[in-house]
Amino acid sequence: MDSTNSSEAPLLYVSHVKKYFDITSLFRNVGKVRAVDDVTFKLNSGETLGVVGETGCGKTTLGRTILQLIPATEGNIYFDLDAPLMNKIIELEESAYAAGNGEKTVDSKKDLNSLLEELKPLRSKYSLTQIGRSELKRTRAKMQPVFQDPFSSLDPRLLVKDIIAEPMRYLTNMDEQQIENRLYELIDRIGLSEDHLYRFPHEFSGGQRQRIGIARAISIKPKLLILDEPTSALDVSVQAQILNMLSEIRRDMNIASLFISHHLNVVEIMSDRVAVMYLGKIVELTSTEKIFKNMLHPYTKALLSAIPSHDPRLKKEVILLEGEMPSPASPPTGCHFHTRCREVLINCGWSPQDLSVHVSEMFERTRNPEARDFPPVMKIEIDNPGLYLDLQLGQAVSNKDTVLDLLDRLIKKEQSKPNGIRFRAISKYEFVSDSTIRINLRKFDVPTLKEYSKDHYVSCLIYEKQKQKDSSQILEPIMNETDEQN
Ligand SMILES: Nc1ncnc2c1ncn2[C@@H]1O[C@H](COP(=O)(O)OP(=O)(O)O)[C@@H](O)[C@H]1O
Ligand code: SF4
Ligand SMILES: [Mg+2]
Repeated sequence: MDSTNSSEAPLLYVSHVKKYFDITSLFRNVGKVRAVDDVTFKLNSGETLGVVGETGCGKTTLGRTILQLIPATEGNIYFDLDAPLMNKIIELEESAYAAGNGEKTVDSKKDLNSLLEELKPLRSKYSLTQIGRSELKRTRAKMQPVFQDPFSSLDPRLLVKDIIAEPMRYLTNMDEQQIENRLYELIDRIGLSEDHLYRFPHEFSGGQRQRIGIARAISIKPKLLILDEPTSALDVSVQAQILNMLSEIRRDMNIASLFISHHLNVVEIMSDRVAVMYLGKIVELTSTEKIFKNMLHPYTKALLSAIPSHDPRLKKEVILLEGEMPSPASPPTGCHFHTRCREVLINCGWSPQDLSVHVSEMFERTRNPEARDFPPVMKIEIDNPGLYLDLQLGQAVSNKDTVLDLLDRLIKKEQSKPNGIRFRAISKYEFVSDSTIRINLRKFDVPTLKEYSKDHYVSCLIYEKQKQKDSSQILEPIMNETDEQN
């Protein structure tokens, strides 16, 4: 959507939202789980955005933060504003973000401070992360959730009629007669009968309960549904019925939705656009068709390679993701995906932590006979977080050049191995004392979600053209800069 067209605007604009959870131990704050880490996207009226990614990548937290069931740590969320106002806010937010990063802004005459000054009253009046309870109540009347577990999300003590009527009673001014009329409409809409209104949730199957949850969510004719894995707790046979019902309802009532799921084939059927999440970040965002036919991000490629092809005759390569998803409490440096990426470059975020085990193995004399002539390495110290590792040798060295030559050979051998890329991130090695060699790494870059082609956003250094040019250095054999200096 063209944000300069003032007659149209997105229904929802999520701007650089973060949700960090504190990790506490013995009542002390010992770290943070970065469940949602700088997420930005827009959603149009009536549109469905699928959100996919492995368990733990932050999908549920994103949904709950948009609903304001949990407060955001940072960022702003704008929902259902008049088009000119929404477009003005989007322009200001985008300009302020660009100015904060030293990039060119839409209105280059304004500096960061004046943009923030202009945004301040708009944020406090309209951003869901800043407005008061009563304004939030008005928003809730237009934005409703359907949760994953139909067993825990319905109050077991209430009759179905009271469960469905709850949002109408609390969020609207409808009288009891209007509510009753609507209840009969709704129960018919979800394929149950009137007598079901007078039963308790435990009398229903999982699929029927989810229908009741959907009736409750649509009872107040919301503009947006946040559907968090609405069918993943159900039997496969029931899933299709519920998904069909949801599709019909959304179309008939023109409701936009955020469709959260880790089932890609379901997302493909249900979504107009798809956002792929990895460790709290959106790594790719585009139309469903492009995600499935012309995906760019290496993580998306791996995710999609795992779903069976529609045509069983077509053989496709399954890209296995090595290792577990890292913890969002200590995500990898640089690109969060670099520890598992098949297309990783030398500037994608290699850290001393990533190298230490491999450097240690390089000196294991039983595995690597060429390391026998190298002085014994007693300890590897990591600069944390940082860009070097220190090798503590067992003795002071007098023939430093010979030792550095040997190290050069060992490292070059590692670099030439199929997964030797991490060793190619080494920039130089030098003695910093008679018994300490410092192995320095190159500085890394951090990708951000950028528009690569029209409406196709990706967060990967391969597609950041300038950076790609810089990283062509990796193809050159490394020269120990110590050698050059000597
Ligand atoms: N209330 C919470 N307190 C601490 N950590 C949480 C909380 N809720 C979620 N997390 C953590 O945040 C990360 C994202 O979780 P979640 O949003 O549930 O992911 P998903 O829905 O994609 O499986 C996980 O590491 C999870 O353990
Ligand atoms: S920036 Fe791109 S190439 Fe580099 S690790 Fe991340 S996904 Fe892979
Ligand atoms: Mg979840």
